[in-house]
Formats: sequence, C-alpha cells, structure tokens
Amino acid sequence: METVQIFDTTLRDGEQSPGFSMNREEKLQLARQIEQLGVDIIEAGFPIASPGDLEATRAVAAEIKHCTVAALARAKQDDVDAALRGLEPAAKPRLHLFLATSDLHLKYKLRTTREQAVDQIAKMVRFGKQHCDEVEFSAEDASRTEIDYLSQAVLAAVESGATIINLPDTVGYSTPDDYAQMFRDVRARLGAHPNVVLSAHCHDDLGLALANSLAAIDAGARQIECTINGIGERAGNTSLEELAVALQVRQDRYPVTTNLQLEKLYPTSRMLSTITGISVPPNKAVVGANAFAHEAGIHQDGILKNPLTYEIILPEKVGVPARRLVLGKHSGRNAFRSRLAELGYETTDSEIAECYRLAIVRADEDKEISDRDLISIIHQVRRGQTSAPANSGPSAATVR
Ligand code: KIV
Ligand code: ZN
Repeated sequence: METVQIFDTTLRDGEQSPGFSMNREEKLQLARQIEQLGVDIIEAGFPIASPGDLEATRAVAAEIKHCTVAALARAKQDDVDAALRGLEPAAKPRLHLFLATSDLHLKYKLRTTREQAVDQIAKMVRFGKQHCDEVEFSAEDASRTEIDYLSQAVLAAVESGATIINLPDTVGYSTPDDYAQMFRDVRARLGAHPNVVLSAHCHDDLGLALANSLAAIDAGARQIECTINGIGERAGNTSLEELAVALQVRQDRYPVTTNLQLEKLYPTSRMLSTITGISVPPNKAVVGANAFAHEAGIHQDGILKNPLTYEIILPEKVGVPARRLVLGKHSGRNAFRSRLAELGYETTDSEIAECYRLAIVRADEDKEISDRDLISIIHQVRRGQTSAPANSGPSAATVR
C-alpha cells in the first residue's frame, strides 16, 4: 500500500488563528508530542512573522530529529532568509515557499501580473534549493486559479527545484469533485515529473476540508496538510484526527496507509486544548467529549451487546480512556443495571425496575444521572423508601 505523508501545520496555520498563539516552550512541548504521534513533517512556524516565531522554529528544528521540520516563507528574499535561519539546526529541513496564483490575489493583493509571479516563483525556488535540499511550493488559492495558469506556475516551481507541490483550497471554497479534478489536471501537466509529490491543504469554511482532502487522495495526492483539532485560519484546517480515523476505518475505500500512531490522537488533542485553554466542542469527531458517549437507551443496549453496533472505531484505538454510557432520560434499564454492576451493586429485576422509575424522574429534572445519584437511588430503593416522590429527601443533585 502507498503511504500518505502527514504534514502537520498546527504550529503554523493553527497557531496563527485567534486564541491559539503559543510561546516557544509550548510549541516545543506540542512538537515533541506530534513527533510521537508519527507525523512525517512538522511545520514549525513562519519565521519572518516575528523574532519569537523565528526562535521557536529554531528550537523545534534543533530538537525534532525523526520528522522533517518545515518553515514557511513567501516567495520573497527576506522571508526565505528568515526561514532558512529557522531551519539551520534541523536534521531534515524543508523550505516551504508560497505565492498566490489566483487572478484575484494577483490583482488585488499582490498587485502583480501572472508573468511577474511566475518569474518570482522560479527565482525564489531556485535560490531556496541552493540552501535547502527539500523545497515545497504552495500555490496559494490554487482552487480558484485558472487551471492553465496554475499548471504553468507549478511547472516553473518544479523546474526550479521544488519536489513537493501543494495545491491549497485556501478559502475553503472547493467541493470534492472540483478539488480532485484540479489534482488530476495538474498531475497530467506534470507528466515529465512523475516523482513530484502532490499535496492537499484544505480549509473548512464550508465544512468540506476532510471530504476535499480525501478526494485529493483519490486523485493522487500523497501528502495531506492538517492540524490537531482542525485548528487554523477562520474555520480551520483538515483535522488530523478525523483524517487519520477516516483512512483507518475506510481502508476499503482509500487503500493507503500513514505512519500515525492512532492511540496518540486523543492525548495530543488534549495537550493542545490544555496549552491553549480552548477545548474542542463536545460533538467533535474522534476527540470530542461525546464522540464515544451514548445516552439513548437503544444505543446503550446495542453497545453493551456489541460496541460495533454504534461505534465505527473502538475508543481505546484512538487513545480515549473509555466510552461513556451517559445515564439520562433517554437511557434504558440495561444501562442502569450495567452501571450499577460496575459500581459494585448486583441488582434484582424488581430493584432495577424501581431504580429506573426513580432515575427517570430525576433525569427529567437534572438531565444527567451521576454515579452518586445512582448510588443514592439504589440505597433509597433498598431502604424501601421509594413510595415517596422521587425528588423528596436530600437531593442527590446537591452532592454531585
Ligand atoms: O491556506 C493556505 O493557502 C496556506 C498556504 C500558505 C500553504 O496556508
Ligand atoms: Zn492554510
């Protein structure tokens, strides 16, 4: 099976989004964890952005030895000089150069012409290649670039020494079909350069970042750029954990492999949340608090009989400590019986029936039944005090 290289840009695209900025120590701590996770390339920063970013890039480059370390630069001399300085201590450095190629960006942002942009790409890639063995070129806003011109720009980068070509959906505008077609078209125009690796970099403005990344793999991309927890500009980038699990669970559809250690996904996600103080939404795929939580009675019953009934991947495979059966008003008797047994209470059918009746009344008021609630209820049942209204006496909610 072919391997898809995982390029993690949490420390660059992720870090540059509001609320996620990290200092040198925090970047280092996360870089060590991302290396353990098994990514192939860590983008450590954008060294021209600030002296702190340059220093952090150097620190990551000095310490990370198994992964390639990349530094970002616009196709400008000062940027490239700063990126090369950031990469000096790296065992496996990669210079990541970019320039926008869409007419919109060329005309309004860069105020340049197509011809001038191609010259600038060729010149800076050639210079970069003299100082760094591995050069990646990104055609910013590739998905909104006219395909003939995109191919011309990409060819100029390849003929000047770039061996990895990234085609970003910078504004998250593409659809899976369009994005895949762009990869096929560019690959066809690069006929004479079959060893050039094509890379996808997707933003999630339309919620399509993962779908677009998978479509790119279908169309021959062999590097995917992504971030932990999907952080990144605006709506974020492709989430690394979603991509990793999609490729694992749907190997029938995507016959490729990665070097990722899936059981490190959840600890890495937690580390990022702890460092930045920003947690993931509870319904986030793979790493959200509810990703392996079940409250509906029918689901809980299925899970207790065979977890595969309602889970497409086992929580322990991605490092989630355990699935949670949430006891609430949607739960069934079986879930209450099973949780009580885990807490050390073997129950008779009549005890469980009464317990269930009381718990549902309480769940209607308190939403979730905690272990302490459940223990208080079973004691109440065993003391025979259940004819009183379920919410009389000391409320379990008060001792939660
Ligand atoms: O979204 C984008 O186009 C980027 C490039 C700089 C790779 O982040
Ligand atoms: Zn980006």
